[in-house]
Amino acid sequence: MPDPLLNWRDQFPILATCNYMISNSLGAMPRKVYDKLHEYADTWATLGVRAWGSRYQDNPTWWELKGAVGDMIAPLMGAPPGSVLVHENASIANSILLSALDFSDSARNKIIVTDQDFPSDVYTLRNMLPHMDIHMIRSRDGMTIDTDELLAAIDERTRLVSTSHILFRSAYIMPAAAIVEKAHRVGAQVLLNGYHSIGVIPVDVTALNVDFYIGGTLKWMCGGPGGVFMYVRPDLLKTLQPRITGWFAHQRPFAFDVENFTLREDAYRLANGTPAMAALYAIQPGVEIIAQVGLAAIREKSIRQTELLVQLADAAGYEVVSPRRVEERGGTITLRPPHAYEISRELLARDQVIDYREGAGIRIAPHFYNSDDEVRQVMTVIRDILEDGSWERHARSRAFVT
Ligand SMILES: Cc1ncc(COP(=O)(O)O)c(C=O)c1O
Repeated sequence: MPDPLLNWRDQFPILATCNYMISNSLGAMPRKVYDKLHEYADTWATLGVRAWGSRYQDNPTWWELKGAVGDMIAPLMGAPPGSVLVHENASIANSILLSALDFSDSARNKIIVTDQDFPSDVYTLRNMLPHMDIHMIRSRDGMTIDTDELLAAIDERTRLVSTSHILFRSAYIMPAAAIVEKAHRVGAQVLLNGYHSIGVIPVDVTALNVDFYIGGTLKWMCGGPGGVFMYVRPDLLKTLQPRITGWFAHQRPFAFDVENFTLREDAYRLANGTPAMAALYAIQPGVEIIAQVGLAAIREKSIRQTELLVQLADAAGYEVVSPRRVEERGGTITLRPPHAYEISRELLARDQVIDYREGAGIRIAPHFYNSDDEVRQVMTVIRDILEDGSWERHARSRAFVT
C-alpha cells in the first residue's frame, strides 16, 4: 500500500541527494524556507525599522514574532497560547529559567539529573547553581534510567528535577508522568528537555502538568538552528523573577524608564534582548508541516520504521542500544555493530547520512518523509561496509573523536 506521507518528499530538497536518516540531529530543510527567508529579507529591505511595529503589516510584527512562533509550536505540545516563547538555544533558555527560580531554601538544595541528559543542561546547572547539590542518577545499562531509583531520589530535599523527556543517545522515553507526580508530591518542580520528543511523539505538557519544558525546532520539527522554545506552566509564569533579562521582558519597553522594570506576565517575561529574527522566519515552514502531517501519523510511521530497523539489526547480529519496547522508544535507533565509529565515517562517505555518538553508537533516525526502502538501504550499506572492509580506511581518524 502506498505511504501517503511520502507525498511530502518533494518539499524537502535534500532527500533527492542522499539517504537522509538523521532527523534527530538536524531535520531536513523544507523547501518553503527559501521563501520565508526571502520574505524576511524583503520585510527588512522594504519596511526597515518599521518592521518592528504593527501598523505596516498584517502578519505578526518583528516585536511579537518570538511569541507568535511560540504560539505556532504550542499546539504541538498541548500548551495554551501565550505559554511558549522562542529562544536562540537550549543553553540560554535553561540559563534564563534557572535565573528566574528561587534556590535560596537551604532545606531544599537538591537537583536531580541523570548521566544520560544532554551535557549542556548539566553544565548550566552546575555553573549557575554551585551551592546546590546536583544528584546524578547513573544509567546501569548505558541506555535507560532505572525508574525506581530515579523516583526514590526525588525527596523532600529536592528543589528541581531537570532531565530529558527522551534520552538523546538511546531514544529511551523517560517516565515523565511518574516523575512529575512524584516531584509535585514532595514539593519539587520539573524541567524536561524535549529536544527529542516534540515533532516525533505526541506530547501534552498540560496533561503532564510539567512545570517547564524546553525543546528545539532543529531536529524533528525541521525548523533549523536558532529555534528553541520554552514552555512555562501558565500559573507559574508570574512567580518567575528572571535575573537574565532585558527590555523585551518589560511591560512598557518604550518608556525607557531606567528606574522601574515591570515584567510582562506572559511568556515574554522570560525574554531578554533583540531576537535573531531570521531564525524566527526559518522555523515556521517546518512547524506548519509537522502540524499538517499530524503527530499521530508521524508516530505510527516512526514506530513501524524503528521496528524495521530493530528487526534488520537483529537479523544481522548488531547490538541494538535503544529500547525494544516501542512504548519506551522515541524516533531513533542506536546500533553498535563492530567498528561502529569507522562504519559511520564510511556511511557518510556513501551519502548515508547518520551520526555517531561516543558512548552510544550509530544513530539512525528516519522521519515521516523517509521510505521503508531507505531504511533497508542504510542497513544494507552497513553490511556491505563490513563485508568489503572499507571501514578500515577510517580507523586512523578515530583520534579526532574526543
Ligand atoms: C537533548 C539535547 N539538548 C540540547 C541540545 C542542544 O542544545 P543547545 O540548543 O543549547 O545547542 C541538543 C542538541 O543536539 C540535544 O540533543
